[in-house]
Amino acid sequence: MEVAASKPVLQVAAICGSLRKASFNRGLIRGAIQLCESGAVDGLWIEHISIDALPFLNTDLEVGGEFPAAVEAFRRSIRASDAVLIACPEYNYSISGPLKNAMDWASRPPNAWAAKPAAIVSAGGGYGGKLAQQHLRQVGVFLDLHFINKPEFTLNVFQSPKFDEEGNLIDEETKEKLKQVLLALQSFALKMKGSP
Ligand SMILES: Cc1cc2nc3c(=O)[nH]c(=O)nc-3n(C[C@H](O)[C@H](O)[C@H](O)COP(=O)(O)O)c2cc1C
Repeated sequence: MEVAASKPVLQVAAICGSLRKASFNRGLIRGAIQLCESGAVDGLWIEHISIDALPFLNTDLEVGGEFPAAVEAFRRSIRASDAVLIACPEYNYSISGPLKNAMDWASRPPNAWAAKPAAIVSAGGGYGGKLAQQHLRQVGVFLDLHFINKPEFTLNVFQSPKFDEEGNLIDEETKEKLKQVLLALQSFALKMKGSP
């Protein structure tokens, strides 16, 4: 009897560029975790890696080849992941300060982002985060992050309500779009790993 080969479970580090308690971008990450936990997406394990405790980047804080404890823990989580999901808010047509700070800390040698497959999702204003995503992709080139190109995921939070008061994603159509992003990330990450 042939036993069907099961897909490996990929570990995904999810980062939210907004520190707001009821952040819609954080809601997208919770939504993605729920899609995996409910079995709607099989073979991905998503963990939210908080960037809230990271100090502002200052290379003076690197002492004797060591980073501050919060930075060490963050870098370790990124390095241990098979893929990265970034929920990227748009601030003044670009990525948020906290997200850039996190990107910069994990870029310090040895670059924790190197050769990681990644996906971006955004909840923003008029352009739904599109302009911020372009800047994030540009940063990713130097960091050797490999973003999937499609499907794009942008969401205008000022149109019809897609979240409840606590920032939880409640819109079924948006959940389906999010699911498609996760499936594309999974497929790309497996290809990068050389899995069949
Ligand atoms: C300082 C600031 C600048 C912003 N600039 C933009 C912008 O350029 N484009 C946009 O689409 N939304 C902009 N917004 C709106 C945010 O994208 C929106 O509030 C989003 O919900 C923030 O993400 P969060 O809900 O995860 O905190 C801005 C918000 C703030 C606070």
